[in-house]
Amino acid sequence: MGTKSLCLLLASVLVAYYVYTPIPENIEERWKLMLINAGFRTVAHVVMTYFISAMEPYDLLSRWTANKLNAVVISVEYRLAPMYHFPVQFEDVYTIVKFFLQNSVLAQYGVDPNRICISGDSAGGNLAAAVAQQVNDLEVKVKLKIQALLYPALQTLDLDLPSYKDNENKPILPKSLMVRFWSEYFTTDVSLQEAMASNSHVPAESSHLFRFVNWSNLLPEKFKKDHVYASPIYGSSRLGKKYPGFLDPRAAPLLVDDTKLLGLPVTYVLTCQHDVLRDDGIMYVSRLREVGIEVIHDHIEDAIHGALMFITSPTDLALGHRVANKYIEWLNINL
Ligand SMILES: *[C@@H]1O[C@H](CO)[C@@H](O)[C@H](O)[C@H]1NC(C)=O
Repeated sequence: MGTKSLCLLLASVLVAYYVYTPIPENIEERWKLMLINAGFRTVAHVVMTYFISAMEPYDLLSRWTANKLNAVVISVEYRLAPMYHFPVQFEDVYTIVKFFLQNSVLAQYGVDPNRICISGDSAGGNLAAAVAQQVNDLEVKVKLKIQALLYPALQTLDLDLPSYKDNENKPILPKSLMVRFWSEYFTTDVSLQEAMASNSHVPAESSHLFRFVNWSNLLPEKFKKDHVYASPIYGSSRLGKKYPGFLDPRAAPLLVDDTKLLGLPVTYVLTCQHDVLRDDGIMYVSRLREVGIEVIHDHIEDAIHGALMFITSPTDLALGHRVANKYIEWLNINL
């Protein structure tokens, strides 16, 4: 009897240690989220591209969008890091979007050229924002009506924003994982990852870019809290020369100057309070509004990164359904 109990205790201690992640106070279904998070961490340890496990919810979301909006939904299966590096992902999406922005192609699918939206969450939000900027420059007759950016990743320069600090160890996307995703977008060379982890990866030659991600100017007071703005720490020019992608606005859409933001479509931005990427989205809202772009900003106080992934059983959360409904409802009215 003693042996059995001891084994059980050991097992549960191990499980408890492994499962336990501090979950913010205002989050509902805390235990379910903790278990899902542990599952994610396990998968993340086993395979590098753990967002592959997210294909099922995205298929469902695409179907919901198609049905609710009576829309043609094109879900682009771009090639993934770390197998492929930037700009492959950008080019994959850009090529498809450019192809569909032709009147003849749209006609073939029965699509109204005045009602086109580009949308994405997380890394997909990054690609949506980057592609929207680049097609904006093209001499195409068909324009996007809406870009919907759901907790997007928009900048590589400052990985110590207040949201990175506040949410360093939050579920689903801790800072260490986001740093790994960013660095693996450009290279499997760990020296970039190490430099990014200490936020000293940007060479002094690129110091002029920091004004585009200056949270001291771009964040509302509420999100600055008691954080103190510090000047950037510059790294060696070697990394910037070897992996120029991390200084490229096609990877980090916040790095364009204001003139590149002019003419962008109506923008829906969803941000989550407990998310390292929160301030990327909020700073883009500020920058777009400053140049007169119409922005609808939904900030969800009790949400974590990746909320939209949690809509399929057994890993569904009330939060996932709430956020998905909010976004699809907004699109249904506005697209
Ligand atoms: C960021 O903004 C603050 C406040 O306006 C300013 O003091 C600081 O020099 C800026 N930093 C950069 C790198 O632009």
